[in-house]
Amino acid sequence: MDKNKPIFVTQPSLAPLSEYVELLEEVWDSGILTHNGPKVQRLEAELSKKLNLDNFSIVLNGTIALQMAIKALDLKGEIITTPFTWVATVSAIKWEGCKPVFCDINPETLNIDEDKIESLINADTVAIMPVHVFGTACNVSKIEEIAKKYKLKVIYDAAHAIGSSYQNKSLLSYGDISATSLHATKLFNTGEGGACIANSPELNERLQRIRFFGHDKDKNVVEDGFNGKMTEIHAALGLINLKYFDKVLDDRREKYLLYKEMLGGRKELQFQRINRNETNFSYFPVIFQSEEKLLQVEEALNEKSIFPRRYFYPSVNTYNEIVDYQPTPISEDISTRVMCLPLYYNLSPKQIKLISKTILLSL
Ligand SMILES: Cc1ncc(COP(=O)(O)O)c(C=O)c1O
Repeated sequence: MDKNKPIFVTQPSLAPLSEYVELLEEVWDSGILTHNGPKVQRLEAELSKKLNLDNFSIVLNGTIALQMAIKALDLKGEIITTPFTWVATVSAIKWEGCKPVFCDINPETLNIDEDKIESLINADTVAIMPVHVFGTACNVSKIEEIAKKYKLKVIYDAAHAIGSSYQNKSLLSYGDISATSLHATKLFNTGEGGACIANSPELNERLQRIRFFGHDKDKNVVEDGFNGKMTEIHAALGLINLKYFDKVLDDRREKYLLYKEMLGGRKELQFQRINRNETNFSYFPVIFQSEEKLLQVEEALNEKSIFPRRYFYPSVNTYNEIVDYQPTPISEDISTRVMCLPLYYNLSPKQIKLISKTILLSL
């Protein structure tokens, strides 16, 4: 371990460069860089097979995937979502002309509190957009029940959730549409990237039209679309990374469990409540007893060139430049006390032990 090398919160999982170069040579030979090229189509097919999903459309990034989902479902009105998320969830809602309504979170799972959703539904509500926070499944059954009762659409912000399951199926198979991110920081990445997984072939066709300027298969413009196409360069990166995806998933679980073993015994620390069959272990969030304690621990880590990340912070309902404040006390409180520890493929068990010991000594 190089003692002087900083340890950041994450690093992308990358397959060997030589394998990427081989695929890039094929791209160069083909002369095709974009426009739903062969590599994008192959990646779509391989990911669908791997995750046992139908109706899979790869796009530029997770934010565009959320916007396309809202557009494809013709939503106009209020969308109930969580404030404990990355700002993209909310900006996607706003870019599509809808209003975000914040529902507070469960203090243990950190996901939207399904018991608080119904009280926020009114005549303007059109959809629920929960986030599977840190890759851990929301209470999907209850959310689907509420959506059915009030005839609402469900879009899951599944940005963190690739590789997670729910009731023995990919977590991405739920909702009218699940939108995931394939960003560099995610368990499976294409550098920048995302995908929509729809619950019907018709909806998937619509998403594919929207992704391609509103063109249908005969190249007629049949509706308003935009440019959501992934390049062949990014898809090639996805294709080689996919070969190592199982390895990355296994490694993440092992490292998560090592952190848990090192830190789990301390009553000053709280962890996200997870069901081991319904998560991909992609992040290791720790909740401290106070913000003061968090800052103290962060300083001790920074002194050793270890840089965890306050994530999600602040609670998105408090971004007063972009939303009208709606109180969600649990999210506001937890977001000041939560920090994600470094977790990635190249992080060694020795480094995890150093990080954990530094935390334990500064509590
Ligand atoms: C919860 C959540 N939603 C949406 C996004 C947006 O994804 P992307 O960065 O691929 O646009 C992110 C990004 O990290 C996220 O964490």
